[in-house]
Amino acid sequence: MDTLIVERSGPLRGTVEVSGAKNASLPIMAACLLTDEESVIEHVPQVTDVNTMAEILRVLGVEVEWQDEQVLIRPGHKPSWTAPYELVSRMRASVCVLGPLLAKHGRAKVAMPGGCVIGSRPIDLHLEGLEALGARLTIDHGYIVAETPRLRGTTIHLAGAFGSSVLATANVMMAATLADGMTVIEQAACEPEVVDLANCLIAMGAKISGHGAPLIRIEGVSRLHGTHYRIIPDRIEAGTLMIATAMLGGDVRIHGAVPEHLGAVIGKLTEANVSIESLDGCVRVRSDRKLKSVDVTTLPFPSFPTDLQAQFLAMMSVSQGVSIVTEKIYPERFMHVPELKRMGAQITREGASAIVKGVERLSGAPVMASDLRASAALVLAGLTADNSTQLHGLEHLDRGYEHLEQKLTRLGARLRRINSASQNLSVGG
Ligand code: EPU
Repeated sequence: MDTLIVERSGPLRGTVEVSGAKNASLPIMAACLLTDEESVIEHVPQVTDVNTMAEILRVLGVEVEWQDEQVLIRPGHKPSWTAPYELVSRMRASVCVLGPLLAKHGRAKVAMPGGCVIGSRPIDLHLEGLEALGARLTIDHGYIVAETPRLRGTTIHLAGAFGSSVLATANVMMAATLADGMTVIEQAACEPEVVDLANCLIAMGAKISGHGAPLIRIEGVSRLHGTHYRIIPDRIEAGTLMIATAMLGGDVRIHGAVPEHLGAVIGKLTEANVSIESLDGCVRVRSDRKLKSVDVTTLPFPSFPTDLQAQFLAMMSVSQGVSIVTEKIYPERFMHVPELKRMGAQITREGASAIVKGVERLSGAPVMASDLRASAALVLAGLTADNSTQLHGLEHLDRGYEHLEQKLTRLGARLRRINSASQNLSVGG
């Protein structure tokens, strides 16, 4: 098992390039099931979740081959329709093969995703949307079994108790591309990753309009073709690097960060006394570490993203004043709080909110990552803390951040990975 040793660092200086978006890559790879032709997807990050999606596609009879930063995806002549529990249980996003399999082959058998550490994550909206398109669904021995002679376009309302759903929108949109007639998705998710998927589907021959707004129209076509498509930069990685610079101080140019994808984050960082400038092709972040506490509430795009809540909370832990961080997507997504408290943060939980009283300095400690974004938050906290922090549970970090340690190291941060089993040191960068 690897451990990350994180030392007090800063300021950060230099330039850094954002990788392709994990959360756009996953449904776009699944979308390649909708065609018989080869697709080439560029700017795909080499992270564990992407490898899991590649494994699922292979089990479904698809050839997946890496060539540097691009992935070649070739559907084979002997397709399968079953996504097994062993793979789906590793990553909930696996469920987005359901819509494409159903649309292309008229049947799918996908393991029901189980519980999730960031809270209850039902898939009722995915299932209701596909049923509205004419699929017959049953749950059989832990599997969703879906069948249809032909999907038919209709109007589908996709909002749940916590607003729109990113992957339910993706699933239904993918299925509707090959349905008979027109599908209208109301209350569709507007996240940049949904827009990226729609743009990729359009490049494959789909007829989609309205993506990026809550009402998406999809006119079904009889077939889709292969494509060559480049994934958007990862806004959550960009936001994590912006928050790192804010916390450690310095002057960093983040290449590939798209300001339009990060409006709410830029707004909150500016309020907290961080200087953000949009330059040609990059965002420049400058900070003197004198951060002001600000309140933040996570909501669907274009509001502040839940996937940056943990990192922002770590920043508020070392800011001047008191802030209230409220989680409106996953009310239980606060597993990083007890770990930050072990490092001296002053945080009180009240339901879906955390009240954070900024302290002068955190103190390094052994901590355990519980999910992907919590692990990033603990890395940032460790970089501002006295002495060293030992971060365990790195498999979470590796699910979604490509070369984060190397990128931070090149900017001047001090962190290194230790393979505890062999006592081998591998230094980031
Ligand atoms: N929801 C339902 N029913 C459903 C689906 C969702 O009630 O059928 C609820 C969820 O429980 C949640 C809200 O709707 O309260 C929004 O969840 P959403 O469906 O949008 O989440 P997701 O599509 O499963 C994606 C990202 C998550 C990110 C969320 C929210 C991918 C692969 N995952 O998940 O990313 O937090 O959108 O933006 O795109 C991460 O990268 O760390 C991560 C967890």
